[in-house]
Amino acid sequence: MNETLQVIKNRRSTRKFKPEQIKEEELEAILEAGIYAPSAHNDQPWNFTVIQNKELMEELNVESKEKCKDFPDELIRKMANNERFNIFYGAPTVIIVSGRDNAIMPQVDCAAATENMLLAAESLDIGGCWNGFVSFLFNSEKGDEYKEKLNIPRGYTPYYGVALGYKKVRVFNAPARKGNVVQYIK
Ligand SMILES: Cc1cc2nc3c(=O)[nH]c(=O)nc-3n(C[C@H](O)[C@H](O)[C@H](O)COP(=O)(O)O)c2cc1C
Repeated sequence: MNETLQVIKNRRSTRKFKPEQIKEEELEAILEAGIYAPSAHNDQPWNFTVIQNKELMEELNVESKEKCKDFPDELIRKMANNERFNIFYGAPTVIIVSGRDNAIMPQVDCAAATENMLLAAESLDIGGCWNGFVSFLFNSEKGDEYKEKLNIPRGYTPYYGVALGYKKVRVFNAPARKGNVVQYIK
């Protein structure tokens, strides 16, 4: 198996991070991988907000959970009501990926950029976890306040977070993949 396929297969969501910060050049390489994702009409309608400020991360953690305390999905509700649960798992870096609202498929483009960054992180042996939790905050009545606080450009919607840091625990086993999802027509 070549190195790219190996990285794709080895990437796991990391949920335990070492506190030390990743190197600037690693961060820049990961961001560049995001920027090199495909996008509809080659619109590149993304914007990346790098957060390395612990107080702000903690505020996003607390406020995101606050918005989900009565969430219909039981798992999310349990996480939201668990004081010790941190939506970013203590990662030292979080990247918020936002998409330009008047693009054709901004959310899909942002998802492609997010996955590219996660794969780039894995290739550098850096742990990453896709974060959808924080979008509950941005979708709430407090969303505009936090978009402003994070300096997200006007006309953009934050879709995902990417938690990044050195792995404290290595996860080797991928959650079982569902079978019977491919049909061949020849
Ligand atoms: C759109 C999206 C949102 C996600 N949000 C979260 C999240 O908020 N918290 C989390 O721990 N994992 C989140 N994940 C990661 C998934 O739980 C994870 O990818 C899945 O369980 C498969 O595990 P793997 O990444 O190790 O292959 C998200 C993944 C996607 C694609």
